[in-house]
Amino acid sequence: MSFAPSTRKGPVGVAVIGAGNISKQYLENLTVFPDLKVLVIADLFVEAAEARAKEYGIPEFGAPELALNHPDVEIIVNLTIPAAHVEVATAAVNAGKHVWTEKPFSLDRESGLGLLKAADAAGIRLGTAPDTFLGAGLQTARRIIERGDIGTPLTGMTTFQTPGPESWHPNPAFLFQHGAGPLFDMGPYYLTALIQTFGSIRKVAAVGSSAKATRVIGSGPKAGEEFAVEVPTHVSAMAQFEGGQSSHSVFSFESPRLRMGFVEITGSEATLSLPDPNYFDGELKLWRPGAEEPEIIPATGPANGRGLGVLDMARALRAGTPHRATGDLAYHVLDSMVSIAESVESGSFVDVISNAPASAAVPEDWAPETATL
Ligand SMILES: NC(=O)c1ccc[n+]([C@@H]2O[C@H](COP(=O)([O-])OP(=O)(O)OC[C@H]3O[C@@H](n4cnc5c(N)ncnc54)[C@H](O)[C@@H]3O)[C@@H](O)[C@H]2O)c1
Repeated sequence: MSFAPSTRKGPVGVAVIGAGNISKQYLENLTVFPDLKVLVIADLFVEAAEARAKEYGIPEFGAPELALNHPDVEIIVNLTIPAAHVEVATAAVNAGKHVWTEKPFSLDRESGLGLLKAADAAGIRLGTAPDTFLGAGLQTARRIIERGDIGTPLTGMTTFQTPGPESWHPNPAFLFQHGAGPLFDMGPYYLTALIQTFGSIRKVAAVGSSAKATRVIGSGPKAGEEFAVEVPTHVSAMAQFEGGQSSHSVFSFESPRLRMGFVEITGSEATLSLPDPNYFDGELKLWRPGAEEPEIIPATGPANGRGLGVLDMARALRAGTPHRATGDLAYHVLDSMVSIAESVESGSFVDVISNAPASAAVPEDWAPETATL
């Protein structure tokens, strides 16, 4: 899809819908990037929006309609729960607003494809989390790999294992429902990192299980409440990519031993340990044959945090150029995760049909804090 430069000038007007847990991390950045102007924060619970508006000096707060109908809002940042992502994003498309939406892109292929088509028909941009791959950590890995330091990239290995988020998240039930679980909640970070390295996934195979039928909220006002576990909480998945490369990934909410952010890419000459793909920064380790210790490589480039993708989309909007974290990329990640879930059910390999578009590298001197519009 190609876009003309926008006719508006100056900083891009933004509204956030969804004033929950993660809105804080976004607003820390969105409210300080000079190329963005956060005009509205909205939520079904207006009190939640009001609290964030006061905390971050956002001029207007209210119900989602306020954001959707605001004449100066050009991008809606959709930070609602997974089950509401497509509904809120579609409402934004229908209101003529560009949309940044949190992961997962959708709960199923049908609604995700419907959103892609609606946005395409309306000439609306879709941007989607994760934007962590635009950060210093994964962009430094990209430069190392593209420079040929590990030779030809061949295989990947990722691990995310924790006891589960119900100990710290005050409203964790949605993380154990359709569209979440460790695969759909954390998979986007790990699969996006693999897809950025190897290209599109062509087929997957996986096994999965759930150790407990219910869990208990561990913090906040609802602590002690029991809720149902509706999805596998341990998934072990293999993927094969378009160039024949392969990967193996574990996504688990069942491990007392924490092992998060493990991503290794092995090439014909060396192995590269990447930083945690859920973060924007971190150091890299390059393991060469015969070396007892790895070479430590610090990440370089911008590492501001969540919101970088919104800024990239806003600048691209003004310039009429492609943005990097696209709906098509997120749809391919979603399609791959749905295929993994189907493989858990069927016990068979599942072909992945969609494609991941390539996205341009982030320049090392990209400056989010500089006013450019
Ligand atoms: N919490 C994290 O650490 C984290 C990290 C990265 C990404 N995310 C993603 O961010 C999204 C939000 O997660 P969270 O932890 O902030 O959840 P949350 O439950 O804390 O907040 C979600 C907010 O969205 C509001 N909401 C729900 N449906 C709505 C609708 N239809 N219209 C308007 N508002 C609506 C809720 O009232 C709530 O205030 C999820 O997709 C999650 O996967 C969360």
